[in-house]
Amino acid sequence: MKSLVILISGRGSNMQALIEARLPVKIAAVISSNPEAGGLEIARMHSIETRVVDQKAYPDRVAFDTALAEKIDSFQPDLVALAGFMRILGDKFVEHYHGRLMNIHPSLLPAFPGLDTHTRALTAGVKIHGCTVHFVTPQVDHGPIITQAAVPVLPDDTSRTLSARVLQQEHRIYPEAIRWFLEDRLQLSHNHVSVSGAIMDDSALNSPKLLG
Ligand code: GRF
Repeated sequence: MKSLVILISGRGSNMQALIEARLPVKIAAVISSNPEAGGLEIARMHSIETRVVDQKAYPDRVAFDTALAEKIDSFQPDLVALAGFMRILGDKFVEHYHGRLMNIHPSLLPAFPGLDTHTRALTAGVKIHGCTVHFVTPQVDHGPIITQAAVPVLPDDTSRTLSARVLQQEHRIYPEAIRWFLEDRLQLSHNHVSVSGAIMDDSALNSPKLLG
């Protein structure tokens, strides 16, 4: 069975969705950059090994990345999943995990990379928003896209209501993408990912729409 290490920094709801999806994978460990992360307790409740590599304990990014990679590699995972991991990782780290480092981002990339995606989507007035699972490359939030889910932006949305709608989809597509990885369905070539066996639906998604 393949093995997975999940990296978190906070509440860990995506990590929880990965655990509860009961994927055919051994979750070897959950590693947090933040000793206070709520997700650590959830992982422990599921009897999953936890580790902390506290970002504050390292003088710079290189030292942190080195310590983190050592910790990850001690579990020899086939795949590393960032799930609300709030540190920017250096090029050397990212290249070391080429093709086996995934992230979930709360926007339809390449729109709204970075932070505060829901507020920025509302400010921009987009009618459709969503989330993206992608392989990680050195440029933050720009790696090859594996899958995306779109949701409508509703007239009364606040960043709280919009983020809740997007988060529901995050919890659905992240386990799905990891399942595809485990089933060897993902082919990564240059900046593109294809999914073998996927059924592509070519109907349009409109938001808003008028009846009749
Ligand atoms: C999620 O929206 C994820 O897409 C983003 O940070 C948030 C983390 O939430 N990268 P959680 O810790 O998984 O609950």
